[in-house]
Amino acid sequence: MLPPPSEPRAAGASLRARVALLMLSVCVIAFGIAYLGVASQLVSALERQRLDELKRSLARSVPRLADTFAGRASPASASRLRELAEALEVRAYAFRVRATGGGDVHLAPLAGGEPWPAVRKTARSAAAGGSVARVSGRGRARTAVVARPLPARGRDKVVVVFARSLGDVQRTAKLLRERGAIALLLALAFVLVGAIAVSQAVIGRVRAVERAARAIARGQHPGPVPVERDDELGALARAFNEMQERLAQAERARRDFIVTASHELRTPLSSLGGFVELLRDEELDTATRRRFLATMADQVERLQRLAVDLLDLSRIDSGDLELAPESSDLSELVTSVAREFEAVASERGHRLELRVNPSVQAFCDPDRAAQIVRVLIDNALRHTPKGTRVRVSCGRRRSDGRPYVRVIDNGPGIPEELRARIFEPFVRGNESPGAGLGLAIARQLAERMGGSLSVRSSGGETCLELTLPTDRAPRSSADTDEPSRTASPQRPMGT
Ligand SMILES: Nc1ncnc2c1ncn2[C@@H]1O[C@H](COP(=O)(O)OP(=O)(O)OP(=O)(O)O)[C@@H](O)[C@H]1O
Ligand SMILES: [Mg+2]
Repeated sequence: MLPPPSEPRAAGASLRARVALLMLSVCVIAFGIAYLGVASQLVSALERQRLDELKRSLARSVPRLADTFAGRASPASASRLRELAEALEVRAYAFRVRATGGGDVHLAPLAGGEPWPAVRKTARSAAAGGSVARVSGRGRARTAVVARPLPARGRDKVVVVFARSLGDVQRTAKLLRERGAIALLLALAFVLVGAIAVSQAVIGRVRAVERAARAIARGQHPGPVPVERDDELGALARAFNEMQERLAQAERARRDFIVTASHELRTPLSSLGGFVELLRDEELDTATRRRFLATMADQVERLQRLAVDLLDLSRIDSGDLELAPESSDLSELVTSVAREFEAVASERGHRLELRVNPSVQAFCDPDRAAQIVRVLIDNALRHTPKGTRVRVSCGRRRSDGRPYVRVIDNGPGIPEELRARIFEPFVRGNESPGAGLGLAIARQLAERMGGSLSVRSSGGETCLELTLPTDRAPRSSADTDEPSRTASPQRPMGT
């Protein structure tokens, strides 16, 4: 008994949330990389550019400044420095440098007003070692500071410092941050809506397959799932529809099988029931009673065969049929099975001939191989008229060296439309007293053993050929050929 189908979970919701979360994370990471990688590089490039400009301004002003501070520093030189600073839009400072003992220097402001610590520090560095450029401070107070000593013209060494605020660069950076945050929020909103819409569409299609699968589990036939698009989900829907179609075919085949099998069982059973009724009549003479009993024995035999065949077929279908393949002497096997039919053949007026190459080895289950050969010889004797010649041969095919058994008769042959279907269960000729299971079972057995069973009908001959896998053990070259009409042992078995 199958367990009842489980209830649908809220899988859609969690999938949707996961897709949305994933896309949001991707978005945030992408923005983070863009901001850290691009925005911060842009700010530092702008600062570098400003510092270089300031350096160039100072370098260009050096000759003029050298003149200005050539003599003693005076209010006039301070005002010239202020004018220059205003023209260049910078703040400018000048210091007189005096060396003190111990390698240190003393800076005395000459012009530019009270210097702030970064300016003094930069001037001190320039006094010690030439041109200096640096950025100091944080946020809006960030400033580019450059300093260099003037060529010495008088007694005093003079260092000039230019400073310019980097507030505009910081404002640009702030703008970039604000715009970036707004863009991120907008992108997140779009991504969220997009993720929900995409996952909704995907989930809708998965749900359609899920609903159909649950309907099948309840024993319903929901019909094909819409394929919609030719993508992975489309492939899933197509595969699901194929599976549904296969299930429907299997279900139809199962029903047909039950109907046909019960019909096959009912016919001999009702015939037996009829004879039992007739035998109750005590007036019956002995000869009639014997005739009835013989017919009943035939029907019982038919029932027994049918039961065995049905069991075989169901075992093959369910995969429960156990095979025991081994290295087998096919020549011996064929000879012994053919002998079983000697009496029947002669009783029915058939000529049964045997052409067997010696020591043809095959790798097969010998009992099942014998069962197949029995089906073939039985058919050749049952479905052909009296006097038909039936040849049973065994050898190795020239083309691929595979062991074969052929049963060839020169009877009326099998009509083409029937020939195409004789390997299906319950398919038989109109005249057949059997159930039409022999060849269906024989082919399935041959294929399960790695062999094949095929039919050919031409030139007034019907040939059923069984091939089996080659034995793994090494073989002699003597048995590789097909038996030739003249060279191989040939023996009529019955007339
Ligand atoms: N050698 C043959 N010559 C003519 N017809 C054949 C020959 N072999 C098989 N057939 C046809 O193929 C049909 C299917 O054969 P199959 O062995 O499957 O069933 P069956 O012999 O009718 O019944 P069962 O074997 O179950 O008793 C037969 O009914 C017959 O019409
Ligand atoms: Mg048969």
